[in-house]
Amino acid sequence: MVDICRRANVLVLEDNPYGLLRFEGEPLPPLRAANPDDVIYLGSFSKIFAPGLRIGWALVPEHLQRRYYLAAESVTLCPPALNQMLVSAYLRDYDWKGQIETYRGLYAERCRAMLAALKEYMPAGTTWTRPQGGFFVWVSLPEGLDTYPLLHKAIDAGVVFIPGAAFTPSDEPSNKLRLAFSAVPPEAIAEGVRRLAPVLHEAMAAL
Ligand SMILES: Cc1ncc(COP(=O)(O)O)c(C=O)c1O
Repeated sequence: MVDICRRANVLVLEDNPYGLLRFEGEPLPPLRAANPDDVIYLGSFSKIFAPGLRIGWALVPEHLQRRYYLAAESVTLCPPALNQMLVSAYLRDYDWKGQIETYRGLYAERCRAMLAALKEYMPAGTTWTRPQGGFFVWVSLPEGLDTYPLLHKAIDAGVVFIPGAAFTPSDEPSNKLRLAFSAVPPEAIAEGVRRLAPVLHEAMAAL
């Protein structure tokens, strides 16, 4: 992919806040590792320390560093100084690599809980991903269904998801939805999937 982009003179932005949270399979080297002149790599403390800090890091090709610096400054001026001090103290005083290892175990367990609940409750005709890291499972419904209107029904049923349409640049409806397993314990994950199932079932029956 990087080779194609290099030939087309397209810069690659590798936005990888979940890369350290891989809990299964072979480690994947970042695109940036073998292509330091063609890829800007972004990491974030939002997923490995605390969400909402809005502190991350960028590995920028040397030839772009000044332009990157000016562009970043014009957008953010400066990331919050207090948050930077928190991150700095965290990296200095805590075993952050050990903490990431702990998170990997936690998310692997929550992911397993979600996959087991999906297997138990999802109506026939749905499919879903089996992630090897990160926070999310994507569920696909049959073609022709739009998950956006189902969100309100799901909220009424006591569960929330993100409709796939939120992740596309087009206005097309999406038959996919994203479920997060990161923030809730396994029992709550199973309960959430149990609540979601009849909402999907009803929409599929009406198709
Ligand atoms: C793919 C991706 N990139 C970037 C971010 C944002 O990270 P930050 O909180 O550091 O802005 C998120 C967070 O939801 C994300 O999912």
